[in-house]
Amino acid sequence: MLDALKDELLSQVNAAADLSALDEVRVSALGKKGRITGFMKELGNLTPDERKERGQALNALKDEIAAAIDVRKADLAAAHLKARLEAERVDVTLPVRPETEGRIHPISQTMDEMIAIFAEMGFSVAEGPDIEDDFHNFTALNFPPGHPARDMHDTFYLPDSGDKKMLLRTHTSPVQVRTMLNNKPPIRIIAPGRTYRSDYDMTHTPMFHQIEGLVIDEATNMGHLKGCLVEFCRAFFDVDDLPLRFRPSFFPFTEPSAEVDIGCSRKGGELKLGNYGDWLEILGCGMVHPNVLEACGIDSTRYQGFAFGMGVERVAMLKYGIPDLRTFFEADLRWLKHYGFAALDIPNIAHGLTR
Ligand code: DAH
Repeated sequence: MLDALKDELLSQVNAAADLSALDEVRVSALGKKGRITGFMKELGNLTPDERKERGQALNALKDEIAAAIDVRKADLAAAHLKARLEAERVDVTLPVRPETEGRIHPISQTMDEMIAIFAEMGFSVAEGPDIEDDFHNFTALNFPPGHPARDMHDTFYLPDSGDKKMLLRTHTSPVQVRTMLNNKPPIRIIAPGRTYRSDYDMTHTPMFHQIEGLVIDEATNMGHLKGCLVEFCRAFFDVDDLPLRFRPSFFPFTEPSAEVDIGCSRKGGELKLGNYGDWLEILGCGMVHPNVLEACGIDSTRYQGFAFGMGVERVAMLKYGIPDLRTFFEADLRWLKHYGFAALDIPNIAHGLTR
């Protein structure tokens, strides 16, 4: 009779389709009101000999069913885990979702390219504040009070706060002043950064970027200035024979001063950079004026050097064929996707600057 019960219970255990069905089988056999438990309760009615024999048989049956339940439980758990792993499978070799890809703004990229080239020549990067005073932005740069060149800068002045007239720097040249006031020659720095002028059209935005260069020591001359800028422009635009033309010009803070043009062609309405006979202006430069050296505490009878300043947007537009300056600051994601750069496209002379 116990054999029949054993077969029945074992087949129920093996037929249990999941953990909860298996538990029902366990309760019905081994629980307080289970069938094996029921037989155990009846042992008291038997003679001692019968009880011993029956008790051993029931205990053996109980152990066997409990062991069968454990085995079935382990099988079900393994099957359950396997099904979950199948259902929740993740392919870790898939690429990241394309919508999470960011782009580096062309201004950031262009500044990094310029810094990479000048760093190779031994320049280090200097910085100054966007909010400047009149002394650093104008006076120390040899713009006397009332000088007409001040008006050409369309300066944003901050509301009068009493002692000093503060303004948004109109160029990166005040970083020259700060560098010379705080360091002794020899000096060899570039200063990339934001600049501000009250102007807005196809080629002007109220905020734009410049990069300034300054070299001061005892013997640096205009030949060094030319060599440095020729080298820079050829590397930056990636045109080995790019011609440069130094045209006499005027800036209060340099003497002599020059504007630099690079060779180009405008044939068929298309701009091409190279040795084609036409010219395009890209930067201003000159030998630092003795008045500037003296205003910055440097002995102009002993030291001399050169300076230059360049618009970052302007050269970025030329290099990457971006037609309208204003689009740089419209924060249009489609524009950034088209003109922007991949995050790992880090400019580096050794590997080539351009894509
Ligand atoms: N600061 C000038 C500007 O914003 C650019 C410039 C010209 C800077 C000649 C220089 C320089 O250092 O030597 O228009």
